[in-house]
Amino acid sequence: MEFDRTIIITGGAGFIGSHVVRLFVNKYPEYKIINLDKLTYAGNLANLKDVEDKPNYQFIKADICDYETIKEIISTNNVTGIIHLAAESHVDRSIVDPFTFARTNVMGTLSLLQAARVFWEPQGWAGRRFYHISTDEVYGALELTKPEGDPSAKECGGGPFGDDFFTESTKYQPHSPYSAAKASSDHFVRAYHDTYGMPTLVTNCSNNYGPFQFPEKLIPLFINNIRHRRPLPVYGKGENVRDWLYVEDHARAIDIIFHEGKIGETYNIGGFNEWKNIDLIKVLIKTTDRLLGRPEGSDDDLITFVTDRKGHDMRYAIDSTKLKEELGWEPSLQFEEGIEKTVKWYLEHQDWLDNVTSGDYMKYYEEMYK
Ligand code: NAD
Ligand code: DAU
Repeated sequence: MEFDRTIIITGGAGFIGSHVVRLFVNKYPEYKIINLDKLTYAGNLANLKDVEDKPNYQFIKADICDYETIKEIISTNNVTGIIHLAAESHVDRSIVDPFTFARTNVMGTLSLLQAARVFWEPQGWAGRRFYHISTDEVYGALELTKPEGDPSAKECGGGPFGDDFFTESTKYQPHSPYSAAKASSDHFVRAYHDTYGMPTLVTNCSNNYGPFQFPEKLIPLFINNIRHRRPLPVYGKGENVRDWLYVEDHARAIDIIFHEGKIGETYNIGGFNEWKNIDLIKVLIKTTDRLLGRPEGSDDDLITFVTDRKGHDMRYAIDSTKLKEELGWEPSLQFEEGIEKTVKWYLEHQDWLDNVTSGDYMKYYEEMYK
């Protein structure tokens, strides 16, 4: 079958990557979409069951750090676009094992950049795109200047917990090994643009939530724990603030930016939707209780304050005005609607949660692709 172009999406078996793969495979039958993923503990092909038989979808098991293999895949498939999501993504793991984060996030990104460069540069850069997905955590942390929260803040143009936001020109100040590795990879991508003229794009997004997120992250972990009446380990006093975005809105932004973003630019992606952890956790408890037919809030006693995460960033808040003004993207879902959909999804997919937490699916796919 002839396709207009071939695109690699790295990390397509992970949480956000699987939503991006699904969107591209369904929306662009004229593109061949290669999902390139190493299938670490966080990668799960069951996330893509609904598209795996589509003629324009192909899965290739590969490690982005394996430069020779990546070069071969890019050239034999005449790849013209790369959307790069593969990474080690969990902050707590990075505190325990920083080397793995440097290897995958820094060396893996560099290997991918160089493999694309050696294939693309001799042909000319026209029609090529290297799009790197990054995080708001590279900007460091904001203060809580309004600790009680100000519900009228949005109307006044500020955030409920502080008037400052991360913009595209905020200086990089990563704190965790995860964000330091992501920051380093962002710099390499920009260096390939500035040095070799590679057509690159970088986006920095806030916290995503929605279906298929590995249950080590706050929202799926806590929904599963509430269901099973297990303790909810809240770091510190639960006062840290995150800006939450429904994952399909992120995938939609990636589509728009890949096709219409200005080469060499950075775009921030966020929900203008800040929540203090403890307030978000109470919403999760209420929603989960209601959907399980329990009295709302009856599981509040599961909240257990535990030792804080080392170097825990206090507040993230993204200003995505540039993306709205230049490319017309805005979040489509209200948070209440997104949380309702998300809690429902996890409650209806206990089998998925059990598989990913038991590691059974890993054994299955290791067998299949060895
Ligand atoms: P995830 O951990 O759910 O998935 C990561 C995927 O990358 C997995 O499928 C894994 O198998 C794959 N992978 C890991 N190492 C690899 C390697 N060496 N070679 C090939 N594949 C490899 O991550 P996620 O939450 O979906 O995040 C995806 C990207 O988006 C990351 O780059 C992350 O930094 C960024 N991001 C995430 C969020 C968020 O809230 N989750 C927010 C902003 C940015
Ligand atoms: O901001 C974007 C980032 O969001 C992404 O780049 C990361 O890949 C993604 O993991 C996420 O990082 P966070 O550290 O913000 O997400 P996490 O779900 O781990 O934690 C959210 C908040 O909840 C954070 O303040 C820590 C707190 N927390 C987390 C866990 C897992 C708890 O209080 N208890 C927990 O058990």
